[in-house]
Amino acid sequence: MERFVGKVAVVTGSSSGIGKQTAKELLKRQVNVVGLARNLSKLQAISEEIKSQPEIYTGSFQGIKCDVTREEEVIEVFSQIKSKYGSISILINNAANMDTVTEEISTTTIEKYDQVFNTNLKGYVHCAREAIKLMTDDTSGGHIVYISSLLGLLDYQGSPLYSASKKAARVFSGALRYEMIKHKRNIKISTIYPGLVDTDLAASWGGPMPENKNEILDTETAAKSIVAVIDTPPSLLFPSNVSLMSCREKAQTAEPVMLFMGVVKTAYMSCDLPLP
Ligand SMILES: NC(=O)c1ccc[n+]([C@@H]2O[C@H](COP(=O)([O-])OP(=O)(O)OC[C@H]3O[C@@H](n4cnc5c(N)ncnc54)[C@H](OP(=O)(O)O)[C@@H]3O)[C@@H](O)[C@H]2O)c1
Repeated sequence: MERFVGKVAVVTGSSSGIGKQTAKELLKRQVNVVGLARNLSKLQAISEEIKSQPEIYTGSFQGIKCDVTREEEVIEVFSQIKSKYGSISILINNAANMDTVTEEISTTTIEKYDQVFNTNLKGYVHCAREAIKLMTDDTSGGHIVYISSLLGLLDYQGSPLYSASKKAARVFSGALRYEMIKHKRNIKISTIYPGLVDTDLAASWGGPMPENKNEILDTETAAKSIVAVIDTPPSLLFPSNVSLMSCREKAQTAEPVMLFMGVVKTAYMSCDLPLP
């Protein structure tokens, strides 16, 4: 992560779960993190924790209350970020809302639909658009990471709103990647497809859980895998459809393993790495 030392990463949905842990992993590597979420008190608690352990967390953390579904709030927050930091290098688009496994299209409400799509899709577009404006084309390059889900890859019938929103945002990531190439921007776009990760969101899902607890990723493993994706050098090219797999046993060695997309299990994280 040397090239991102002292740079700024924006992590949406950093008040809990994967976003919180990813923010912490970046902070351990001297990256300054701006964490966005709606729950300000949770962000403040993270801020206190970071400040109390300066020997572990060598980057700075600023939590800003922001509902990513509200375009004007996102614009205002990124304008504050611009005033304070000038530019950013990393956006981790992680905030999400989900319907349960029993949700049915025939009975769902437009309110539920809006909640899920406005967070997972519109929120992503709002943040990516504002982030791109603040990313420079210096040699370290920018990186936008979208946290999708295995449900955004598979033809799974449960949680239809969530699954559809994750699929749609994945398509947006692909389009954004080509836009960045077209405009000769030095910005990578990566999409990560986690399987089950031990968070509040997974607990509220209501879907099938593996009997073997080892097949559920812990947030630290997930976050380390996300950081490993960010750490890939700008010049490193991968064929598309290569997955970054990190199962619990492997992650204990902190060495993510590259696997092909064909291997899709709940405990794995797969990652569509950017084209040249
Ligand atoms: N856990 C899993 O098994 C799993 C599997 C595949 C993919 N994922 C993906 O991983 C990502 C993180 O999820 P998680 O499991 O860590 O869940 P989580 O612990 O529930 O975290 C979700 C985060 O999103 C934030 N958020 C929700 N709506 C928001 C909004 N409108 N504006 C700003 N922030 C908002 C929440 O903060 P506030 O409530 O404070 O706003 C929270 O920090 C999501 O994209 C999810 O789809 C998770």
